[in-house]
Amino acid sequence: MAGIRVAGSLRVPGDKSISHRALIFGALATGPAHVRGLLLSADVKATAASLRAMGWPIPPLAREMVIVGEGCHPRRPVAEAALPCANSGTTARLLSGVAAAQRHAAVLDGDDSLRARPMRRVSEPLEAMGAAFTWLADHGRVPMRIQGGDLRDLAWPMTVASAQVKSAILLAGVCAGVRVRVDEPIETRDHTERFLRAAGVPLETSAHTISLAPVERLDPVNVDVPGDPSSAAFFAALAAGAAQGHVVLERVLLNPRRTGFLRVLERMGATIGIERDDESAGDVVGDIAVTASPLRATTIGGDEIPSLIDEIPMLAALAALADGETVISGAEELRVKESDRIATTVANLRACGVDADERPDGLVVRGPARIRDAAIATRHDHRIAMAFGVLGALTQRDLRLDDPACVDVSFPDFWHELARLVG
Ligand code: S3P
Repeated sequence: MAGIRVAGSLRVPGDKSISHRALIFGALATGPAHVRGLLLSADVKATAASLRAMGWPIPPLAREMVIVGEGCHPRRPVAEAALPCANSGTTARLLSGVAAAQRHAAVLDGDDSLRARPMRRVSEPLEAMGAAFTWLADHGRVPMRIQGGDLRDLAWPMTVASAQVKSAILLAGVCAGVRVRVDEPIETRDHTERFLRAAGVPLETSAHTISLAPVERLDPVNVDVPGDPSSAAFFAALAAGAAQGHVVLERVLLNPRRTGFLRVLERMGATIGIERDDESAGDVVGDIAVTASPLRATTIGGDEIPSLIDEIPMLAALAALADGETVISGAEELRVKESDRIATTVANLRACGVDADERPDGLVVRGPARIRDAAIATRHDHRIAMAFGVLGALTQRDLRLDDPACVDVSFPDFWHELARLVG
């Protein structure tokens, strides 16, 4: 395969996880919080709309904005508030925790993808704290009604490694002013803990355990949202898989709980240079330079999975161009993301002519494959669309996506940036 040449630098949009939390912590704090670099995407808009629905006065979203928080209970709460969570699992899970500590009930709903995703992982701990969940359609799924109230202390051993579940419990504890302890089986992204500390909440953390003492109020947290490593990953993969060239990704969040994909790309043979820049919201930020390199297969699994969970569709697509058999395991959570990403990734790789198989908890990809033109069924999943967008660009094949616009969920400018870097 002749391969393409890439060149240029790119500032990827603001981190999605931090943008959700900037809005939530902005609303729950007492006083004005300044936010810069907010991601303006469909998922983040769902969080803003849901907070407004509950009664918090969130102004129209802008990259740079001020949120004047009213505290953990809005001054004018809305009874039976309808929360439009759209495609966003983060909105639904994190705001379940907030809703569980309000006196008024809330009804959370979303699109067909969200309606298929498991919610018992949040209802179980929140019910143990004293909230009541009613399933309005399917058991354990949205639409669901949460009747909150006075909550009690909780010590919860999580069975799934999920930052969303951990955050829901911590937010419920903060809003209710109770004591909580969460044990996670594997370390997951720690943005909520970082926001809590910045908001003046004393947290105790040890390996896999987070403990929160009762708090009365949250201080406003000013944030400069760094670039999203999960968005940067698509362009890092593009550069790594190209025949020639070099891409620089500027001001990306380098939190090690989010950058497992960089370690995998290095194992695959990519040349990566990192220049640390500054700190934002207590996190390290910097530039990532990726140079085109011949790629080899690798194994991905174990404790590194949460640090790259959202990047697996891209890594699997890149593995199709690498030499050898790539095995991904311990990633059963992928089956309950915006789509069943194990099934969606393998079906689309096969449509492109790649030798790939599903495993219950992951997938196997044998490369290097000769990619052929194909129709890609995205299942309206943004990360599937972008992974196959990059594979199409790398191989100069006509990979026709049924829903290219679904990238709006996390990276509205993705197609424009891809065209610019490929030239
Ligand atoms: C997120 C946590 C992860 C991740 C999602 C964002 C967050 O989900 O996949 O894109 O912001 O807390 P899980 O907590 O379900 O693993």
